[in-house]
Amino acid sequence: MNYKNAIENPVFETIAAVAGEMGVESYVIGGFVRDFLLERGTPKDIDIVAVGSGIALAKGVAKALKEQPKVSVFKNFGTAMIKTDDLELEFVGARKESYHFDSRKPVVEDGSLEDDQNRRDFTINALALSLKKENYGELLDPFNGREDLRHKIIRTPLDPDLTYSDDPLRMLRAIRFASQLNFRIEKESFEAIRRNRKRLKIISRERIVDELNKILLSDKPSIGFSLLYKTGLLEMILPELTNLSGIEEKEGQRHKDNFWHTLEVVDNISENTDDLWLRWAALLHDIGKAPTKRFDKEIGWTFHGHEFVGSKMVSRLFRRLRLPLNEKMKFVQKMVLLSSRPIVLAQDLVTDSAVRRLIFDAGDHIEDLMTLCEADITTKNPRRYKKYHNNFRIVRDKIREVEERDHVRNFQPPVDGQEIMDFFDLRPSKEIGIIKDAIKEAILEGEIPNEYEAARAFMIEKGKKLGLTPKENQDKK
Ligand code: CTP
Repeated sequence: MNYKNAIENPVFETIAAVAGEMGVESYVIGGFVRDFLLERGTPKDIDIVAVGSGIALAKGVAKALKEQPKVSVFKNFGTAMIKTDDLELEFVGARKESYHFDSRKPVVEDGSLEDDQNRRDFTINALALSLKKENYGELLDPFNGREDLRHKIIRTPLDPDLTYSDDPLRMLRAIRFASQLNFRIEKESFEAIRRNRKRLKIISRERIVDELNKILLSDKPSIGFSLLYKTGLLEMILPELTNLSGIEEKEGQRHKDNFWHTLEVVDNISENTDDLWLRWAALLHDIGKAPTKRFDKEIGWTFHGHEFVGSKMVSRLFRRLRLPLNEKMKFVQKMVLLSSRPIVLAQDLVTDSAVRRLIFDAGDHIEDLMTLCEADITTKNPRRYKKYHNNFRIVRDKIREVEERDHVRNFQPPVDGQEIMDFFDLRPSKEIGIIKDAIKEAILEGEIPNEYEAARAFMIEKGKKLGLTPKENQDKK
């Protein structure tokens, strides 16, 4: 089969010409070919394999290109990269061993194209297009990768035990591709992943998280997470999640399986947002349920305070996985902490003051919180499903209405501490905090509007009740 149309970009002709002059064979390989055949477009990342020196080819190509791009050389691994305005070209020499994928080990032996294809991760990633003059654009597919693409199968070119032990990260890559492309992992591969799962220990957290993020960003992340679970990998990476699995029954009362519930929530939210951190929040929103689970004879299963416990667990988990410990983590913590608030609101009468408190606590993240909480509705009871969604609509309307009127999002007290100190001629003291809190409470409860005059009058009243004397009266004394 010829696929010249995949390589219409003039850069391929340049590569072919330079390689021809140097007397080396060159091929486009990997994700570029796979994604073209899947009609996922023509990727900007292009992998080129040279039967000879990848680094020398990269240097030659850079010289031949109009924009004279810089070549980044990674000598130990025998690779070189060129970045142009719209492309990232990665060059590698064909190898007998797949060590160049595992960046800690230097490259050893040169090989042919077939050797190189043998040592790649999956049949669908071993597809190559020739850039040689004699068969320009021909697809070289020794393992029937095209059939696997058609049947949506992830399969390794060699014995899966060998392919996965060459680079254990590939176990996660298999699951990631299954999730991104909605493919099935072939049985032997699946079993090899289960068998080799402990080998994941040698992979850095950063690389693991990279794959996790890609799974989380796929259209239906539950595909990836249920594979992670079934292969035993999830237990090693996120035990907080696997601890949620299972249903217990006591005195005829059962609780839901919070692991599978969580995966449903993640799928639901993925229909409404591509925000990685909001998806993380959905994934972790119930992790506090495992340590807080209790059975009470009167009320059945409870998970008291799981939101608070869960939000504390988030920081430990982020630290362990080397996820960022910045405002992204704080956002996830906040979402976990507040994750039950809107549903409680939606079940009850929706009062203005409850909505004001919610807006006050969620601030700018109120919309995200609502998105999370709506995704959290996984009841299979159609009557309840409808009721919750209707109630959420009421909460959303109310949020809009209250926000327009009261502006409590990112609340700044209309009267600040300095003004209280000046008015009553106070030094920093606990009375100031008491008055400030009372003003905030009065606004949130709707006793006074969120305005300066009203807050000032309230401050004076409150101060008097605390036995304070305004400064002007003190002067008269
Ligand atoms: N590869 C491999 N084993 C790895 C990593 C990569 O065999 N652990 C090979 C595969 O042939 C892959 C190619 O190197 O297609 C390029 O790797 P990479 O850029 O990481 O992945 P892509 O397949 O291009 O896919 P994506 O860009 O979606 O990650």
